[in-house]
Amino acid sequence: MSIGLFDSGLGGLSVARAVRAALPYRDLIYLADTAYCPYGPLPVEQVRTRSLACARWLVGRGARVVVVACNTATSAAVELLRTSLAVPVVGMEPGLKPAVAATRTGRVAVLATSGTLTGERFARLVERFGARVEVRTVACPAMVRLVEAGELAGPYAASVVAGYVAPLVADGVDTLVLGCTHFPPLRALIAAAAPEATIIDTGPAVAAQTARVALAAGGRAGATGDAGRLTFATTGDPLSVAPALARVWGESVDVERAAC
Ligand code: DGL
Repeated sequence: MSIGLFDSGLGGLSVARAVRAALPYRDLIYLADTAYCPYGPLPVEQVRTRSLACARWLVGRGARVVVVACNTATSAAVELLRTSLAVPVVGMEPGLKPAVAATRTGRVAVLATSGTLTGERFARLVERFGARVEVRTVACPAMVRLVEAGELAGPYAASVVAGYVAPLVADGVDTLVLGCTHFPPLRALIAAAAPEATIIDTGPAVAAQTARVALAAGGRAGATGDAGRLTFATTGDPLSVAPALARVWGESVDVERAAC
């Protein structure tokens, strides 16, 4: 039984990495919807259509659990996926609750996409957990582009990240929520721009939830002694995606084309 994950592009690899650590013996199939990346500025209806196409492709490839490794797609489409698919769906949302618990200055910032930040789910999250703190929201599309280009280090990437983060720090924000899966791969640069800040990434929590759901969905933990198979696919051009994917994933892998 394999676990399928999708994102608009390479950001969800940060979630796949955490799922891999939690469930090393399970087969994972990762789909990057590169042909439609970024999701952040797309109309909600289109993100829904793409999310359903990606999730169905994963199920067609044998996924028995689908992880929406994208905050924007979760915001737009998780209910639709849950009612449309016959397999369990794990979604994700910005870690505002742990951020509120961590802040000392009472100022937290959520870095995400415009799609996530303007969605109803996020409004409900702020209503639920954000009442006693100041919640700043910052859409960071240039950080998404950095990760899609596999540019995770260097002076240009550092200046893009600092351009978003430094003004928040100057305003007394002490807790940064990585509300987009493209941002954990830039964590070192974010930490360099905000050395005192607490950084919240929900990837590990999503992985723990995925492990619970996978166990409940059947099959043993999969401890056969062999590492699970990893499959990477893109709706874009595999040859041009592969180098950036290797940089974000940390090693060279084969990338196949997904027609969906
Ligand atoms: N990785 C995505 C997220 O978590 C979306 C980035 C994008 O495609 O704009 O929201």
